[in-house]
Amino acid sequence: MGLAYMLGESLWFILPAYVANATPVVAGGGTPLDRGRLFIDGRRIFGDGKTVRGFLAGLAAGVLVGLIEGIVVNSLSHYLLLGFLLALGALLGDLLGSFIKRRIGIGRGGAAPGLDQLGFVIVALLLVSPISLPSWGVVVTILIITPPLHLGTNFVGYKLGLKSRPH
Ligand code: CTP
Ligand code: MG
Repeated sequence: MGLAYMLGESLWFILPAYVANATPVVAGGGTPLDRGRLFIDGRRIFGDGKTVRGFLAGLAAGVLVGLIEGIVVNSLSHYLLLGFLLALGALLGDLLGSFIKRRIGIGRGGAAPGLDQLGFVIVALLLVSPISLPSWGVVVTILIITPPLHLGTNFVGYKLGLKSRPH
């Protein structure tokens, strides 16, 4: 299998997770998911960077991508389910990342190299795996391309004024 084919296959598969992860940057804001509550360590559970609207918008956008992919390949229900699980996994993974960051004392918007770039995609892959386990080549490709893609798109978002920090 050629490199370009593997890249295309991987992007096609993981696209709902990417869109779910990116959408809150433009659609998020408002009430935080933790509603300002603190964890037992006295720090925020997730922090102000994880909002109800961002979560729901990310989920909806990821499902929409699954829907469109399903229409393209004429396999609607399967791709809807894939889109839903990948989007849900991406958002839960992102939440888990923020939860871990708060526990180790990294404030909202602080960088956690590795966790910030890969956490969401790993949980997305875990959640979708019972339904559709991609080949190891696809999984490894996703793990390799996601950190630079995430850093790149976040930097563009920062330059465009969508994000206050470049990570
Ligand atoms: N966002 C949101 N709801 C989510 C996830 C993200 O509203 N569930 C929005 C927030 O405005 C957030 C931005 O998208 O600031 C960028 O997301 P991210 O970098 O994940 O959040 P951070 O602000 O860096 O916060 P954290 O340190 O918790 O990751
Ligand atoms: Mg961040």
